[in-house]
Amino acid sequence: MVGPSAFRAPIRETCGANSWFEILAVVRLMAVLTLSEADSLMIPKDHSGFGLWVVPSETGHFSISTNFLGNGGGDDLRFLCSLTNASNLRQVGIPINSLSGVLPDCISNFSTTLRVLDLQRNKMFGSIPPGFGNLINLEFLSTYDNRLSSHIPLEIENLSKLQYLDLSRNNLSGNIPPSLGNLKLLLKLYLDEINLSGVIPSSLAECRNLLVLSLSGNNLRGSLSPELIGLSFSPIYVKLSANQFTGVLPMEIGNWKNIQYFDISQNMMSGKIPATLGDCVTLQILAMRRNSFEGSIPSSLETIQIIELLDLSNNNLSGAVPKFVEGFKFLQFLNLSYNHFV
Ligand SMILES: *[C@@H]1O[C@H](CO)[C@@H](O)[C@H](O)[C@H]1NC(C)=O
Ligand SMILES: *[C@@H]1O[C@H](CO)[C@@H](O)[C@H](O)[C@H]1NC(C)=O
Ligand SMILES: *[C@@H]1O[C@H](CO)[C@@H](O)[C@H](O)[C@H]1NC(C)=O
Ligand SMILES: *[C@@H]1O[C@H](CO)[C@@H](O)[C@H](O)[C@H]1NC(C)=O
Ligand SMILES: *[C@@H]1O[C@H](CO)[C@@H](O)[C@H](O)[C@H]1NC(C)=O
Ligand SMILES: *[C@@H]1O[C@H](CO)[C@@H](O)[C@H](O)[C@H]1NC(C)=O
Ligand SMILES: *[C@@H]1O[C@H](CO)[C@@H](O)[C@H](O)[C@H]1NC(C)=O
Repeated sequence: MVGPSAFRAPIRETCGANSWFEILAVVRLMAVLTLSEADSLMIPKDHSGFGLWVVPSETGHFSISTNFLGNGGGDDLRFLCSLTNASNLRQVGIPINSLSGVLPDCISNFSTTLRVLDLQRNKMFGSIPPGFGNLINLEFLSTYDNRLSSHIPLEIENLSKLQYLDLSRNNLSGNIPPSLGNLKLLLKLYLDEINLSGVIPSSLAECRNLLVLSLSGNNLRGSLSPELIGLSFSPIYVKLSANQFTGVLPMEIGNWKNIQYFDISQNMMSGKIPATLGDCVTLQILAMRRNSFEGSIPSSLETIQIIELLDLSNNNLSGAVPKFVEGFKFLQFLNLSYNHFV
């Protein structure tokens, strides 16, 4: 038995460790400004000279990931403006630093050749400047784990080439903009813990290539429509925990033929566990803890043979615990407590 830590989050992708994108240079505590390769710029740790950096206009990749850059002042990000002259800019990565301050408006003047903008794990605050909607060729955008506030900007609708969008762990209150449905190439969408409210817009069903949908830890409400759940996309990872979703789990969930991770814990879902869940034979993690699901565990679940974590605790389930649960060979965590099983 292992604890709930068995809930595995997918490894956060950074543009520096992402097989879809070329590897960015990772610089650790270099003492001097280093130019390496034809178009790759490495920047040393330097608390004093952000404004003085001169970035060659041929810079294509700019990375200062995993340093201790930033002095906590409001001006840490001004140096980004020196990249506006780089006409062939393709990747900008400043993840895992202590860069503080507001994202400068000048990012709207970055070359539209930019494909990767990785700002995760810093201390940025303020809002996302609307002008970033100019960066129409962006494929990867992450602001994960900063202190950004305001809303998800509507301009996001114009980033029609986005494949990876992670705005998690900020304070972007408001609704999920329906125009996210314009992002037809989106593969992974992370909007966890950003204080969202409202419902999941039905237009999200237009993102037919979604593999990851992660919306946990918000104040989202409403029911999960059959349209969203069943008919449009075939995800691998869906995390909707710690919201205020209500209603039944639509039987269309059985259409998720590739789903490995499904977490709907800590909501207000009710009704029976749909028998079609047994069609999701690739499920490894199934977490439905702390809802009001009722009825018995459907016998069809016998088919989810590779299940590793099954948490149905704290519901209103009844009947007998099916014998087949003992036969799950890969099960590491099982919690059925706080129900009415006989
Ligand atoms: C951009 O290039 C022009 C002309 O070379 C120069 O005057 C200007 O200072 C540069 N701007 C930045 C932000 O580096
Ligand atoms: C973007 O570039 C234009 C033209 O060089 C300039 O007028 C404008 O002020 C710049 N905008 C920002 C936000 O830096
Ligand atoms: C989050 O943003 C809201 C409104 O935009 C604001 O009222 C609230 O204080 C912010 N919370 C934090 C923790 O910064
Ligand atoms: C998106 O781009 C279109 C065309 O350039 C423009 O009309 C529209 O206002 C933009 N949307 C936003 C929210 O900026
Ligand atoms: C969440 O957003 C609401 C506004 O929608 C705001 O009043 C509240 O303070 C925010 N909560 C936190 C924890 O920031
Ligand atoms: C099992 O679930 C109950 C109710 O959700 C919870 O209180 C308990 O800590 C869980 N047990 C383990 C071992 O995680
Ligand atoms: C649990 O289910 C029983 C019937 O099986 C029902 O009477 C009761 O109201 C339900 N309780 C909750 C909290 O949903």
